[in-house]
Amino acid sequence: MFRRNLPLLLALALTVQAADTTLTLDVASPVGRVSPIHHGLMTEEINHCYDGGLYAELVRNRAFRDDAEKPVHWSAVAGATLVLDSTVPLNSAIPGSLRVEITAPGGGVANAGYWGMPITPSTRYRATIHAKAAAGFTGPLTVSLQSKDGATTYATTTVRRLSPDWQAHEVTLKTARGLTPTTDAQLVITSAEPGTLWLGFVSLFPPTWKDRPNGLRRDLMQMLVDLKPKFLRFPGGNYLEGDTIDTRFKWWETLGPIHERPGHPGTWGYRSSDGMGLMEFLLWCEDMGSEPVLGLYAGYSLKGDYVKPGPDLEPFIQEALDEIEYVIGPVTSKWGARRAADGHPAPFPLRYVEIGNEDWFDKSLSYDGRYAQFHDAIKARYPHLKCISSIGNEQPERLRVHSRRPDVLDEHYYRNTETFLEMSPRHFDSYDRSGPEIFVGEWAAHETAFPPWDAKSKGLPATPNLKAAIGDAAFLAAMERASDLVTMQCYAPLLANVNGYQWRPDLIGYDALRSYGSPSYYAIQLFSTHLGDQILRPVFSKSATIQGSATLEAKSGRVFLKLVNPLPSAQPLRIALTGVRSVSRNAKVLTLAGEPTDTNSIAAPTAVVPVASSARVLAPTFDYTLAPTSITVLELKTR
Ligand code: AHR
Repeated sequence: MFRRNLPLLLALALTVQAADTTLTLDVASPVGRVSPIHHGLMTEEINHCYDGGLYAELVRNRAFRDDAEKPVHWSAVAGATLVLDSTVPLNSAIPGSLRVEITAPGGGVANAGYWGMPITPSTRYRATIHAKAAAGFTGPLTVSLQSKDGATTYATTTVRRLSPDWQAHEVTLKTARGLTPTTDAQLVITSAEPGTLWLGFVSLFPPTWKDRPNGLRRDLMQMLVDLKPKFLRFPGGNYLEGDTIDTRFKWWETLGPIHERPGHPGTWGYRSSDGMGLMEFLLWCEDMGSEPVLGLYAGYSLKGDYVKPGPDLEPFIQEALDEIEYVIGPVTSKWGARRAADGHPAPFPLRYVEIGNEDWFDKSLSYDGRYAQFHDAIKARYPHLKCISSIGNEQPERLRVHSRRPDVLDEHYYRNTETFLEMSPRHFDSYDRSGPEIFVGEWAAHETAFPPWDAKSKGLPATPNLKAAIGDAAFLAAMERASDLVTMQCYAPLLANVNGYQWRPDLIGYDALRSYGSPSYYAIQLFSTHLGDQILRPVFSKSATIQGSATLEAKSGRVFLKLVNPLPSAQPLRIALTGVRSVSRNAKVLTLAGEPTDTNSIAAPTAVVPVASSARVLAPTFDYTLAPTSITVLELKTR
């Protein structure tokens, strides 16, 4: 999404100010090669990122397991009685059901989804209802999408006859043309006849990305694809680890038909349906043209439980080897065959695996031993895989891995804007270029010093403002200048439902119907969609407050110059390109600018978006004035 704002751009162009800072860029002398997988995404179940987010399921608590006592998120219609019934299990994975006793005509149940359901015109919704009826009751059931007060019906259909055995009923609900989109909707299942039935699993999907069954929300996928991510780090984050060893991400329990997945508690205060299972993560990568960066559970969980290196750790190593086999094993292998049975005979393109997550929290200092054991087992079986240590150089030396040489170190940086501005000019300069690759697997600029989980953060919106985007861009510039070393980087967290988030700031916000990118989203997009393959070194004539990075696309001669002006005043700059014969007269320019507090939201989704313009470049040395509080990309065609 790029906007043209001619008045602003004209005003800037006409404000010709004398430049006392010169930026020199020697285009003929690249200093390194840009990693081809520099930009990626990090993801985990946090902020209703999947359930109530990217995963398009609309029914909340579809397997009635979110609470052991009550059928939370379900409500009775017309005086029906709802009881969780552990004596009538759906199957071994879902060991209970919801008993619905209908005593009056029109009685039944309703589910209001994740803060509403998205109703759009001319849309087909697919419902799957696993139900069984008590003796003497056969239905029929009316299934409809209604407003929460029941006054408006958006779509309706019928399940004709129930059986005394569990049966999955699939029905389609189609909304009419011309209705106004709304989140004021719930799924309602009722009967005109009194009687008792059990519901074991109720699912409702709108159209999904590429129409995949059990698929992903279209608007959010479009926003992710627009970032051109080259990899996806999953499944966490803390979500990989679980609060306890038993609640870790058990990948094998996330496979197969969705009504046979038990789900698990998750780490961010709500239960995960595991509708986003290992196969869905891999298909998600495939659909974005990204490669997976697979996080392997490595024997440490959030509340401090850990598994001692040695024989105790062996079963966890086997879990990881099996998981890798599921991703890349031949169809003749046990888990490769399972992948084929799950619909994907071809192996996925796995190159990187990460051993654990943020293992510096392990106070027992067992990570070195655990890492070594995983590393040796993985390398023995899959020598081509690169192993990532979850502890990087930003952590104290004594916590890091010493007994093996990790291929890659994962470093995490959650900092405020001021800190990123200070770090940007030199942070990666001291790194040993012959050492491990650096993966900045989580990073984000915060507008404030409040930690994301701090009570003071609670009143703040899910997504950051332009001030944070300035910090993000300064750090992106630092990582891009070092992108021979920082081979991969990804912002975190990626997604947040604005009605239920545990952490801020987050890159993309949404409710059940609408979504928007934060200014940080657009900052990242400016960088990820303007990336050459050779790193150029910007040299400023004096210690500049402007932060910058430049890359060259060798085959086309295009130079992508990114400049970050954190100051509230316009900054004139002389830009001198050396090592070129000529520069095209018109440079394409994209500018993200505004007041530091400017931001986007559900109500104003595009208040801060990049503005497209062009600049006259009459010679390889030219003047350009950067807008106050801005991120600018200049695309210069050189020869
Ligand atoms: O991104 C949110 C959390 O921050 C991740 O789960 C964890 O790895 C980090 O501490």
